[in-house]
Amino acid sequence: MKVESVRGMRDVLPAEVGLWQRLEREIRSCFERYAYGEIRPPVVELAELFSRGVGGDTDLVHKEMYVFPDRKGLPLALRPEATASVVRAFVEHGLHARGDLAKLYYLGPMFRYEKPQKGRQRQFHQYGVEALGSLDPALDAEVIDLAAQLMVALGLERQGLTLRLNAIGCAADRPPYKAALATYLGEHAEQLCADCQRRAVENPMRVLDCKQPRCRAVSKDAPHSAQHLCGACARHFGEVKTYLDALDLAYKEDYTLVRGLDYYTRTVFELCSDELGAQDALLGGGRYDDLVSVLGGPPTPAVGFAGGMERLVLLLQGLAGEDETRLLDAVLVPVGDDPAVRSAAVDALHRLRVAGRTADMEYMARSLRKAMQVAARRARWVIILGPDELERGEVTVRHLASAQEAAVPLARLTEPGVWPGSV
Ligand code: HAM
Repeated sequence: MKVESVRGMRDVLPAEVGLWQRLEREIRSCFERYAYGEIRPPVVELAELFSRGVGGDTDLVHKEMYVFPDRKGLPLALRPEATASVVRAFVEHGLHARGDLAKLYYLGPMFRYEKPQKGRQRQFHQYGVEALGSLDPALDAEVIDLAAQLMVALGLERQGLTLRLNAIGCAADRPPYKAALATYLGEHAEQLCADCQRRAVENPMRVLDCKQPRCRAVSKDAPHSAQHLCGACARHFGEVKTYLDALDLAYKEDYTLVRGLDYYTRTVFELCSDELGAQDALLGGGRYDDLVSVLGGPPTPAVGFAGGMERLVLLLQGLAGEDETRLLDAVLVPVGDDPAVRSAAVDALHRLRVAGRTADMEYMARSLRKAMQVAARRARWVIILGPDELERGEVTVRHLASAQEAAVPLARLTEPGVWPGSV
């Protein structure tokens, strides 16, 4: 019986992997230019980390998290996001004790039990950064700038991108704002979807997240969090915008942007692309100044963002000219089945690889002509080794692009510059 992959969890096949690897290289290099260092937290965490960190009544934890007991009954979770894990690691390893800013990045799989659709999987991959230890609004601007620069590095800056920005205030701003919002939503309860009628009472800010047109219509005129900021939060937001202007980064203030996770404070943002359809958020993030203390660390302000790799892949696949097939340096074709020839070929192949060349051998017993055709699609050079060549202690090296050919002594095969057409 055929066993299939789990719904919403897909293979990245070899034809696509080149693009993924290029993305991963660009992302790492961009993050490192902004002085972020990599952290690799585990994929499995205690479920409690997310119920406390992200919020027990967020959809993410309540409806979408994969939770399972281990063999002793301990409730574990496949991580649905990485911010809580990074903060846990930051507290657990005393990274705060160094008294400096901790700038960390990650890349890896996350798991959410959502309805799979274009740009939304149950196993997906996030790249993200977290900067822990400073309240400086220039740091908010830095992470937004980093996100924007990454899109430039990937050649996506013209893919209908919009930076949505909002400020949702600190813990002290929240109760009066929620009260004002709940009052407004109460007055329009009959226009809301059934879920939002409940949310309006239990967690009114979640109504602003709802995608239903009727709820959006109500949200449009709802009180804005940015109008309910204390003096310090209002100043912070003003400075973030000043820095974004200084960086020439265009943004759209969107008062309905509240983000689906409970840990956010002050700045929140999303970068969306109108080329992505319903799941249009390329990345999202913001400040979470209380999360470190909620997870048992000393009060530590922090800001970060994460984006989905699959959505970048969708955009890049839509761009013409994206060809990631990478050629090997050489394919070695032994001629005939003389054991001495085959041993010499195995040895030559090994020496090529040890010398740092990417190389493979014809293993499928194809005719020389067929083997040459296949090799021409895979490599820049073909190396032919038959009984005559072996007797002379040579191989024939053919540069496919220029059709130049040369006899090269076997002993000198790995020397630079001896292959025809080499640069
Ligand atoms: P998030 O908005 O839940 O934020 O996810 C960030 C990004 O991950 C989304 O914008 C989207 O590109 C991608 N994503 C989310 N769910 C899926 C899915 N099911 N399939 C494919 N892609 C998906 C966070 O996770 C926060 N931890 C971000 C953050 C970091 N905030 C501060 N620091």
